[in-house]
Amino acid sequence: MKFFIDTANLDQINEAQELGVLDGVTTNPSLMAKEGITGKENILNHYKKICEIVDGDVSAEVVATDFDGIVKEGEELAKLHKQIIVKVPMIKEGVKALKYFSDKGIKTNCTLVFSAGQALLAAKAGATYVSPFLGRLDDISTDGLQLIEDIRLIYDNYGFETEILAASIRHTMHVVNCAKLGADVMTGPLSSIDGLLKHPLTDIGLEKFLQDAKSFNL
Ligand code: E4P
Repeated sequence: MKFFIDTANLDQINEAQELGVLDGVTTNPSLMAKEGITGKENILNHYKKICEIVDGDVSAEVVATDFDGIVKEGEELAKLHKQIIVKVPMIKEGVKALKYFSDKGIKTNCTLVFSAGQALLAAKAGATYVSPFLGRLDDISTDGLQLIEDIRLIYDNYGFETEILAASIRHTMHVVNCAKLGADVMTGPLSSIDGLLKHPLTDIGLEKFLQDAKSFNL
């Protein structure tokens, strides 16, 4: 399972990278705005900075919603760095653009996916990644994990190579459950990765080991 961090914050990306388990980064316009990054040049530079920190894929989202606009923006983003993955929304023009990019060998991440039907369409169009937003489904009393399970079944039935990128992860149990269901990738906040290492019995056990080791006079 690949671990992506879902942020545009360089400190957090660095921290996750230093842990040694980071495979990539996802961003979106809201996450960029949260960091106060505005203006085309600054935004493009910020993506470059992220690519310099991590070794893996970095999703950069288009904001155009018409086919020509998505293609223009996506090609510009893809040229920026070899690690850039063009993030395209699940809309009709987006599906056309996914197919266009796929034919051109440009990698994509189909975002804002909330149903198995949308995920099927993204795979048919040749998306590299599909991003079902499980946290946002949970927020409205709909089972986000069930969607991950359904997409896994559909993709396995037909051998689709599109990777399931479980997005909108909110906490460690989302990560663990997505791993159980066979999601290829998860993207979440730093806390959802850091939280995986926490267990009170580890802390209690280590304290006792260190206490007993004092008698070794090392
Ligand atoms: C996915 O790529 C999105 O950036 C993200 O996971 C959305 O998460 P949120 O629902 O916590 O905003």
